[in-house]
Amino acid sequence: MRRKMAAGNWKMNGSRKALSELDAMAPHAAAGAAEVLICPPAPLIALAAAHSTEIAIGAQDCHNKPSGAHTGDTSAAILADAGATHVITGHSERRTDHGERDADVAAKTAAAFEAGLVAIVCVGETLAERDAGKTLDVVGTQLAGSLPDRASAASLVVAYEPVWAIGTGKVPTLEQIAEVHDFMRAALETRFGSDGAGVRLLYGGSVKPGNAAEIFAVPNVDGALVGGASLKADDFGAIIDALNAA
Ligand code: PGA
Repeated sequence: MRRKMAAGNWKMNGSRKALSELDAMAPHAAAGAAEVLICPPAPLIALAAAHSTEIAIGAQDCHNKPSGAHTGDTSAAILADAGATHVITGHSERRTDHGERDADVAAKTAAAFEAGLVAIVCVGETLAERDAGKTLDVVGTQLAGSLPDRASAASLVVAYEPVWAIGTGKVPTLEQIAEVHDFMRAALETRFGSDGAGVRLLYGGSVKPGNAAEIFAVPNVDGALVGGASLKADDFGAIIDALNAA
């Protein structure tokens, strides 16, 4: 049995004051079996982790080294020390804004495992790649290159996030989501055996209260990675409720 997960990515949004949203989300998290996670900006992690009991706190990125002369960067070990239990790696905004390649994502993911963090590794095609019929090729290549060999069902979560669906209000059809999630499940089982069967697969990209339930009914969708709709407890609470009911 894979435990369902609702993960919120606040991106470069939020404030100390906004942590009160966690209090309003907590009853939704407490009401069901799904794991609920919020990834605020790094400076808020320690405060959020001290503040929150029902909701786990994660980071949005980490460096691939545990410590050292890397000005402005944050290691997985430092994130863990601050109270993070999870970290997102390979988000498309990191891949685009910071030129992160699959090998960089794999190194960061391995560093996350080393620090005892669960890694949520993101993959997904651009619109041009989808239109060219390359979606499964792109996702397969990203999966092969972004996951370290020592991944396990407990340490790894994979998020399928079509780049064209992030922050746009556009969502793939349920058939398109199913196709990619089934493909990822098969690839993970081939590579990691029974651990691959246990890795949770999240869908991400314009998940909202209005579309969450139908997405959560798709086979091999074990939850969602949510951007904009995770900032407010009203929206994220409704998504958590939909997941708990799925
Ligand atoms: P969105 O972002 O829900 O705002 O589309 C998703 C993500 O980038 O994880």
